[in-house]
Amino acid sequence: MAKVQLTIDGRTVEAEEGAMLLQVARDAGADIPTLCHNDEVKPYGACRMCMIEVEEHGRTRLVTSCTYPVKEGISVTTRSDRIFRNRKMIVELLLARCYKVPEIRAMAADYGIDVENSRFQVREDTCILCGLCVRVCDEVVGVHAIGFAGRGPDRVPTPPFKEPSQFCIACGACVYVCPVDAIKMVQTPESRTIKRWQRTLPMKVCKVCGEPFMPEYQIEYFTKRAKVPEDFFEVCPNCR
Ligand code: SF4
Ligand code: FES
Repeated sequence: MAKVQLTIDGRTVEAEEGAMLLQVARDAGADIPTLCHNDEVKPYGACRMCMIEVEEHGRTRLVTSCTYPVKEGISVTTRSDRIFRNRKMIVELLLARCYKVPEIRAMAADYGIDVENSRFQVREDTCILCGLCVRVCDEVVGVHAIGFAGRGPDRVPTPPFKEPSQFCIACGACVYVCPVDAIKMVQTPESRTIKRWQRTLPMKVCKVCGEPFMPEYQIEYFTKRAKVPEDFFEVCPNCR
């Protein structure tokens, strides 16, 4: 793989062509916040928290580092007043949208925002539209159970037609990746419910220990996809 040379906060760094600035800068020790990034899925550039300054051909501009590939000779700044001001504005707008979300309130307080007195009209959405749930369901699990619907302030991640999901396997991957805990999972010995997608599935019980360990429909999906023997999931991973 060809290499390129660039500077990050004044230090010369070598990186593989095609690598994104976020990872390269982090590897070089930069502290860059993110909300919509996860190494397991493709970059999406939704939250803009990862913005940094790039100087190229004598011009400096703000770019999202998660979607910006390294280039020969560019000069990158990861800390500046301009970056801080822009990130602070993003957090302020997120706070106005998701006024009660603890993760966003904590982030806002860290940026010195007066959390109790927003200068914008506040709403009580729970989702920051980072798209991680949609991407993990598409790219990692391969189920494609959810997507985005609506525009502007009405945009939401949802199963098709905003109906209870027919495809969700209740694996919980979306619950795990959501950075603001907007997808709740309720687990009982009999069933698992992913509340945001209105999906409840019965649980499979381990033949050996008798404990419920995975939704039956998830087992059906994995059995087909991984082509494992039919009885592979009769026993839970702990007893196997
Ligand atoms: S529900 Fe969570 S993971 Fe999905 S888009 Fe909203 S904030 Fe992101
Ligand atoms: S992490 Fe880059 S835009 Fe969200």
